[in-house]
Amino acid sequence: MTITLHDAPSAVRDHRSVERAAARVLLTNWTGASTVPSHTLYPHQWSWDSAFIAIGLRHLSPRRAQRELETLLGGQWADGRIPHIVFNPAVPLDAYFPSPDFWQSTSAGRAAGAPAGIETSGIVQPPVHALAAALVHESDPETSRRRGFLERLYPRLVAWHHYLTRHRDFGGRGLAAVLHPWEPGMDNSPCWDEPLARVEPAPAASFRRADLTHGDAADRPTDLDYGRYVRLAGDYRDHGYRDAGTEHSFVVEDPGFNALLILSEYALADIAQALGHDAESHRAQARRLTDALVDRLWDDDAGLFLCHDVRAGRAIEEKSVTGLLPLAVPGLPDGIARTLLRTAAGEHFGLGSTTALTPSYDLRGHSFDPSRYWRGPAWFNINWVLERGLRHYGTADCADTLRQSVLAAGAESGFAEYVDPYTGQARGTTDFSWTAAVVLDLLADVHGGGGTR
Ligand code: SER
Repeated sequence: MTITLHDAPSAVRDHRSVERAAARVLLTNWTGASTVPSHTLYPHQWSWDSAFIAIGLRHLSPRRAQRELETLLGGQWADGRIPHIVFNPAVPLDAYFPSPDFWQSTSAGRAAGAPAGIETSGIVQPPVHALAAALVHESDPETSRRRGFLERLYPRLVAWHHYLTRHRDFGGRGLAAVLHPWEPGMDNSPCWDEPLARVEPAPAASFRRADLTHGDAADRPTDLDYGRYVRLAGDYRDHGYRDAGTEHSFVVEDPGFNALLILSEYALADIAQALGHDAESHRAQARRLTDALVDRLWDDDAGLFLCHDVRAGRAIEEKSVTGLLPLAVPGLPDGIARTLLRTAAGEHFGLGSTTALTPSYDLRGHSFDPSRYWRGPAWFNINWVLERGLRHYGTADCADTLRQSVLAAGAESGFAEYVDPYTGQARGTTDFSWTAAVVLDLLADVHGGGGTR
């Protein structure tokens, strides 16, 4: 199947059946208190997955979407971090690796304030949560108010953002840095190849990957990369998940991670306003973060934002979709927004010409692979974020076209985890929750004539 821009409208002719199919994925993946990204590959609760899931789930049940975020925040640590996995104790240990006995959050994480009764991982994922909370609230403000949803979430979300800007500003420029390739969510992006090369991989015999039981090895990260992920996570754990006073081998400022933090900071302003608290301090913080993002990570020659290797003290010269994500940030300098639009549509990402969905990595890059995880395939949540950017800075036509492509590729791929950016063919697993969720959200936009945020 080839998804072209012309095919897209016919593929979404029957919006109702797409909606039903997407709803079925989310209902099947609901476990009673939260949603698994995939019953096979990811059988617990994942942090940024849950935020995107809540954004879709609100169209089926605002109450359940609230619960999704509340359950995730039940795993928050006292230092403010939201762990990237909250484990479900009913799932067998060998269903996912690294399992709770690897992370040891309730013992190794005690000093950093890991909760006592819940097993979690110790690293984080991109901060989409305040944005999700604001959107969930807007979908049913009355139930939200009656349940005190925002009142309960607001201080936790503020603590989360404080954790990122206070404990993770390793570059000293006001941006949050990530300490593991799983933290920016784009696990095996070629952006990490250089900083990861400095990490001694954990011996292959010391762990057993569970992901290869459910995914094709050609779609997944390599064993060598996996050994390095395990080493980094194990070292962080062995240092009590301490951020300060520890030598971290992988420290990177990622533009996508910080762009999502900025979007969420603006959402915190809206939440504060709804609660009668000070909203301006959040807006001022969002503007400060935007200035830092532009000063530190913008690269005019590359035509997009680049990751910064804090340990090596230099930019990482790889064009990844993470460098386009700031397009969703309000208040970018005009020239930068225009350049980002040109780069998205140009030869490196091909949006609207050679590709219908933005690929995760440079089509011309030396490491481009249309099948392998974050080294080329197109991801649905990322395209949802970019659709907002196109709507804000580009034309309504471009945004509508991308929206139609997400709907078509989502439905035709069986709600795949990711797709080949040229053919739209499913890669990774199917019935993937955030794919179904963003399809539901964009469908609601089609019917509602555009989102409110
Ligand atoms: N995405 C990572 C994995 O594949 C970590 O959450 O397990």
